[in-house]
Amino acid sequence: MRSSIQSSLLLVASLSASMVEAERVLGAYIFARHGDRTAKIFGNTQLTDLGYNEVFDAGSFYNERYILSSSDKHIEGISSLIVNAQQISASAPADAVLQNSATGFLQGTLANSTTVVSPLRGYQLIQVTSTSSDADSEDATWLQGSSDCQKATVSSNNYYISDSYNSMLKSTKDFYESLSPMLNSTFTSSEMSFKNAYTIFDYLNVGQIHNSTTDSPALKDLTDDVYAQLIQLASNQQFNLAYNETDTVRAIDGAVLAGQILSGLNETIATDGKKSKLGVQFGSYGTFMSFFGLVQLPAASVDFTGIADYASSMVLELVTNATGTGFPSEDDISVRFMFHNGTITGSAEPTVFPLFGQSNDLLPWSDFKSGIEKIAVTSDDDWCNMCGNTDGKCASSTASTNADSSSSSGSNSSGMSHAVAGVIGAMVTLAVILGLEALFFLVGGFRIAKRSKAVSEMAVAAAAAEEKKS
Ligand SMILES: *[C@@H]1O[C@H](CO)[C@@H](O)[C@H](O)[C@H]1NC(C)=O
Ligand SMILES: *[C@@H]1O[C@H](CO)[C@@H](O)[C@H](O)[C@H]1NC(C)=O
Ligand SMILES: *[C@@H]1O[C@H](CO)[C@@H](O)[C@H](O)[C@H]1NC(C)=O
Ligand SMILES: *[C@@H]1O[C@H](CO)[C@@H](O)[C@H](O)[C@H]1NC(C)=O
Ligand SMILES: *[C@@H]1O[C@H](CO)[C@@H](O)[C@H](O)[C@H]1NC(C)=O
Ligand SMILES: *[C@@H]1O[C@H](CO)[C@@H](O)[C@H](O)[C@H]1NC(C)=O
Ligand SMILES: *[C@@H]1O[C@H](CO)[C@@H](O)[C@H](O)[C@H]1NC(C)=O
Repeated sequence: MRSSIQSSLLLVASLSASMVEAERVLGAYIFARHGDRTAKIFGNTQLTDLGYNEVFDAGSFYNERYILSSSDKHIEGISSLIVNAQQISASAPADAVLQNSATGFLQGTLANSTTVVSPLRGYQLIQVTSTSSDADSEDATWLQGSSDCQKATVSSNNYYISDSYNSMLKSTKDFYESLSPMLNSTFTSSEMSFKNAYTIFDYLNVGQIHNSTTDSPALKDLTDDVYAQLIQLASNQQFNLAYNETDTVRAIDGAVLAGQILSGLNETIATDGKKSKLGVQFGSYGTFMSFFGLVQLPAASVDFTGIADYASSMVLELVTNATGTGFPSEDDISVRFMFHNGTITGSAEPTVFPLFGQSNDLLPWSDFKSGIEKIAVTSDDDWCNMCGNTDGKCASSTASTNADSSSSSGSNSSGMSHAVAGVIGAMVTLAVILGLEALFFLVGGFRIAKRSKAVSEMAVAAAAAEEKKS
């Protein structure tokens, strides 16, 4: 008797000793780019099998880090085998590439990767459908981002009259014209310029991945050096379209994402970790760039002005060194930012970078919160003011705010937190078959946010489309 009490005391002592050392992960928010896809120039872009594998691999990494109970980065209290829909929210714009990427990634995230070795083994595809009757969908339509944001569209279009753009257009004229043999089946000669820097890079990048040089003999001219110039020029153009230090509305998609991240992490803390432990969202490289600019990541590495590779992901972790098992106080919680360029395979891991141009890899929650609040769009009204929109959602948003103002900010903030948690729409049914026992876990309630298709590649695409028409 006595010895068993002693040994359990010992056990408690050794447990708390190990807790002193071990950092605890309380929650995380992941934002990821879609995987390999077909070229944009041909329209109707589709995720390829390669892309599907890339997002699955990235998802598997996060599964092993945050979901598996044996991981020392396991998110405290997250359900490892059966998905608890309150703990995880997933969102992606209503776009074939992004929705399918989200699906592939989630399968990786949820996979017991010791059993599941390939995307389809043991899995049934998750069908993502839109349920416009969902009660939450109206809360989140403001998430439509820059495609609807008037001032952001104007701002991005202004790029095409900036000195930066015009000098690039001139200095790269010969370079783009020299690519004619590789481009002439698809681009007219007037289209072969810096104006189409991204579309040209994208076309040749996809060609390099998927076409052999026997099918496309001209591709032999795509040397490493030419490729490096193409990606650098496309990055320069796209970063400038996505972010401008003095004209911040241009980065509206990053600001909306910042609001979603803030709200997701805030909800983890506000509910003492009972809800919203893991947020997963899919988006475009343009959103990455806007966000990178806003949180001053280019100060940490100039690479952040470049286009993130397919299936890149960033994650913000809520961590603490507080001892014990209870949810720590806000003062004891910190935020860590990590990014990985491209999919994650083997022993690769995301790299930690400091936010907001300072030098600490770890930001106290209160500092993170005040930093991100400065750049985040956190409500419909915020968005409407920033964008200068007065029609559609914005007409009713102002009206309903006025009507609601007496009925407490509580209802407002709960509406927002739903929107922000990426809640709209779709119900996803996921059947997981594990091993011989053919266990079926039926998981309802995955919420996939629907955003307008036009959002998917943000103002960049809108501006580019404008260009195309002309
Ligand atoms: C994965 O599944 C296998 C077979 O069901 C099981 O033995 C193993 O413990 C599981 N791994 C984890 C980390 O849950
Ligand atoms: C950034 O915004 C400023 C102020 O609106 C403008 O003068 C400048 O041309 C813009 N730069 C680019 C590259 O768009
Ligand atoms: C494209 O360029 C190649 C190499 O200069 C030339 O042989 C071919 O005829 C051109 N095709 C078109 C459609 O202009
Ligand atoms: C790659 O092949 C596709 C299909 O044959 C073709 O449409 C496309 O122009 C090729 N891309 C390049 C860069 O040659
Ligand atoms: C954070 O959560 C608290 C409590 O639910 C809420 O009052 C506050 O508005 C939230 N803040 C943000 C930025 O979401
Ligand atoms: C990701 O890699 C691409 C090259 O593939 C590079 O242009 C870009 O700057 C990198 N981005 C980051 C954030 O490392
Ligand atoms: C916890 O302590 C370890 C070891 O000193 C340190 O590396 C880590 O950054 C700390 N984490 C937090 C959240 O303070």
